[in-house]
Amino acid sequence: MKVTVVGAGAVGASCAEYIAIKDFASEVVLLDIKEGFAEGKAMDLMQTASLNGFDTKIIGSTNDYSKTAGSDICVITSGIPRKPGMTRDELIGINAGIVKTVSSSLIQHSPDTIIIVVSNPMDTMTYLVHQSTNLPKHKIIGMGGALDSARFKYRLAEALECPISDVDGMVIGGHSDKGMVPLINKATRNGVPVSEFLSAERMEEVVQATKVGGATLTGLLGTSAWYAPGAAVSGLVQAIACDQKKMFPCSTLLDGEFGLSDLCIGVPVILGKNGIEKIVEISLTDAEKAKMQESAEGVKTTNGLLA
Ligand code: 2OP
Repeated sequence: MKVTVVGAGAVGASCAEYIAIKDFASEVVLLDIKEGFAEGKAMDLMQTASLNGFDTKIIGSTNDYSKTAGSDICVITSGIPRKPGMTRDELIGINAGIVKTVSSSLIQHSPDTIIIVVSNPMDTMTYLVHQSTNLPKHKIIGMGGALDSARFKYRLAEALECPISDVDGMVIGGHSDKGMVPLINKATRNGVPVSEFLSAERMEEVVQATKVGGATLTGLLGTSAWYAPGAAVSGLVQAIACDQKKMFPCSTLLDGEFGLSDLCIGVPVILGKNGIEKIVEISLTDAEKAKMQESAEGVKTTNGLLA
């Protein structure tokens, strides 16, 4: 199993590290445009192999896509991250050009690969990859919902004052502060709806804190987060690499599902060896449907900014 991660910045390097530690891939290629940067990160990570107990081989490359040839899965994290106060949409001007070039370069050497998009604005970048690669739609996946759901669970556990392993919840919709749809009415604590433990006001606080989870961290860190994004995308990679048939909220091209078409947005999907094996049209309340519709309008507005 060969995985390429483009972008050796904090998110890409964290993703490569988590993939290596999980030890399901034979090789991870970490590629960056900055001279020597990916090679340095790869070497540093390889020097943790005996400490963290993995045999995965991590190699670094300075913009040599021949090293990525034959990758089963390619993760695109390259592009500029947010600064405090920025929206993800404000990154489109620079990141669209980067993602277009990177995705085209990847499929030249790995024509049958599965691409996972992390670069922001993620839903629009995922849509762009469809335009620039013509890969079958089940092979293009946007990572946002897995990260947002992890933040949702964090906030739920905080509100419930319980271990995170006791809670479950999912965030669908666009990966944006306004577009996220945390499914609070479906969230559970050990299978029991959280509404049995939390007031409506407290549940709304959890929803709002989830939606601005990325911005909260950017304000604290001065740049975008990386541990949770890296961990979230490594989970998608593992589900594909190990054919796990796990359900995640992922950004995928819709063609009528949830009443939406011609956009990539976060919905529940089953991930396995073929990438997106199935879109799961879960039942939504009228309020959830309305939020998804509004979120889709926001994503399409951002898509309209693509040159
Ligand atoms: C985040 O929400 C980088 O979009 C990513 O942290």
